[in-house]
Amino acid sequence: MFFSKITGVGHFVPDNVVTNHDLEKIMDTTDAWIQERTGIQERRFYRPHEKGSTAKMAYQASLIAMQRAGVTADDIDAIVFATLSSDYYFPGSGVLLQDMLNMGTKPAIDVRAQCSGFIYALSIADQFIRTGMYKRILVVGSETQNIALDLTTRGRAMGVLFGDGGGAAVLEQHSQAGRGILSTHLHSEGKHADILCIREPGTGNETIVYEGMHEQHDKINPFMDGQFVFKNAVKRMPEAVMEALAHNNLQLSDLDMLLPHQANLRISQMVQRLLNLPDEKIYNNIQKYGNTTAATLPILMSELWEQGRIKEGQLYALTAFGSGFTWASALIRW
Ligand code: UT7
Repeated sequence: MFFSKITGVGHFVPDNVVTNHDLEKIMDTTDAWIQERTGIQERRFYRPHEKGSTAKMAYQASLIAMQRAGVTADDIDAIVFATLSSDYYFPGSGVLLQDMLNMGTKPAIDVRAQCSGFIYALSIADQFIRTGMYKRILVVGSETQNIALDLTTRGRAMGVLFGDGGGAAVLEQHSQAGRGILSTHLHSEGKHADILCIREPGTGNETIVYEGMHEQHDKINPFMDGQFVFKNAVKRMPEAVMEALAHNNLQLSDLDMLLPHQANLRISQMVQRLLNLPDEKIYNNIQKYGNTTAATLPILMSELWEQGRIKEGQLYALTAFGSGFTWASALIRW
């Protein structure tokens, strides 16, 4: 029997810090509103007009993850890359990273599951390793979101929430049952696709790009029914954690740390309350980065790694919820 385990994690965020006070200067918002409603104090935006930034951030994060795992790109068999903000319309950013890492003809798989993308990617990589097809996979979540945001008062409901960043994990084959990725559970509910989306460019129209498209702000800018998303997020993330624990015959009290997708500090706090977890068993960093979508979970793990808080034998739950809707959980015995 084969199993998979994470042997290294890394992250990269742009050095360009954008505070709530910076946003106050370009839209009708306040630091107080943003902090009270979301917990966010600042986020990172990749500097404008730098091309290839989603793959570039993934590259930097991957180098750190591989160095911590003690491997090089030559040792990696495949890439699974999660993003909603790929560098090109097509191909996905996976192949761009594959080229940056000089990985010859090794495969790169792109995953589009938005905020749940990293857990979906982890699950796909875990299956490849369990079947024995691959021994070592780079699992990535990376996002450049600032260029898709309407950073005016019209777009403030979403513009203040998101940030840029990338994270990566090296997933390796091992044979010790009960260690590493214990399980992953994935869900989606496509009837809510229009609740949180950017509609264009897309093939739902006669052409992908058409005259006058840029005036259609409701279609090319992100749209979200925030309160509906909020309600579903606080229902689905605890559900997914409980599903993972039950599947492994474990209890909430067995959990050493919950890493929730960073969409809103109030969502994380509600999930914590619903699961009755003490403060030391949950880790949030949305205050510094905003919502980096597929990158939030590997960034959380990488920061914990740097703080020496990833410990052998401890039990970690990852959970995420987002556009699609998609939601997921992963249980990891490190
Ligand atoms: O990653 C997964 C996807 N995303 C999420 O999970 C996000 C889920 N939703 C949320 O986090 C929250 O719904 C938001 C943070 C997006 C919004 O918080 P809210 O408490 O639901 O506020 P709201 O949308 O009900 O807006 C309240 C008021 C409105 O004004 P009126 O109508 O009461 O006069 C908005 O126009 O706040 C106004 N508002 C703002 N004011 C200042 C909305 N955005 C802003 C802003 N600054 N940036």
